[in-house]
Amino acid sequence: MRIDKFLSNLKFGSRKEVRELIKKGYVTINGQVTSDFGLDISPALDQVIVGEETVYYKPFITLMMNKPKGVVSANTDPIEETVIDLIGIPYARFDFNIAGRLDKDTEGLLILTTDGAMLHQIISPNNEIYKTYLVELRDPLSRTEELQKGVTIKDGKNMDFLTKPCFIHPINETKTTIKILEGKFHQVKRMFEAIDNEVISLKRISIGELQLDETLKPGEVKELSQIDIGNIFH
Ligand code: URA
Repeated sequence: MRIDKFLSNLKFGSRKEVRELIKKGYVTINGQVTSDFGLDISPALDQVIVGEETVYYKPFITLMMNKPKGVVSANTDPIEETVIDLIGIPYARFDFNIAGRLDKDTEGLLILTTDGAMLHQIISPNNEIYKTYLVELRDPLSRTEELQKGVTIKDGKNMDFLTKPCFIHPINETKTTIKILEGKFHQVKRMFEAIDNEVISLKRISIGELQLDETLKPGEVKELSQIDIGNIFH
């Protein structure tokens, strides 16, 4: 790939701006300053430095974020802070898709990927991946059997939706985990509303067998290995 295209793709500037950077001698390839903005490089093999920054590149990147409360799961928002705004360099140079959004007031495990095929695999209902949430309730937990068998809620289009069987593992009177297959809009909140309770706080703790890394501070990300990714689909 041409170096000017490569750096422009990684948001170092427009093609024109990147060419200026190169002409001015800010770019080093494998230890050599270059002024040739048409130079062909192998992004995965060549070491590229722009100013002080060693350019990080992989064809596909998948991240885990410990999403904090108070930020929206969107790529852009005219008013609110988004999960994408929280991502720092080097990952901020890539375009991520959010694989299963969380509400603004929900925290925990969020997966972000540059890999379109993987995004599809994670969110496709055909793949039946369980998502586990830690839930705090207004009232003591009851009617768990009803919930486990399936309740009718409104989906994102305000249509009736019967939830698939799920698993409830109570922790104490008002705290439980719930493991569900689908990801309808406000699903967990609406499921507990259907049994006349209310979710006070919600945290996603796993997707498939991939668990939230509790050492990540709210807003922090870490790159997932192939083993981690495999755990999503187990
Ligand atoms: N269910 C909800 O109600 N909210 C979320 O953010 C995720 C699941």
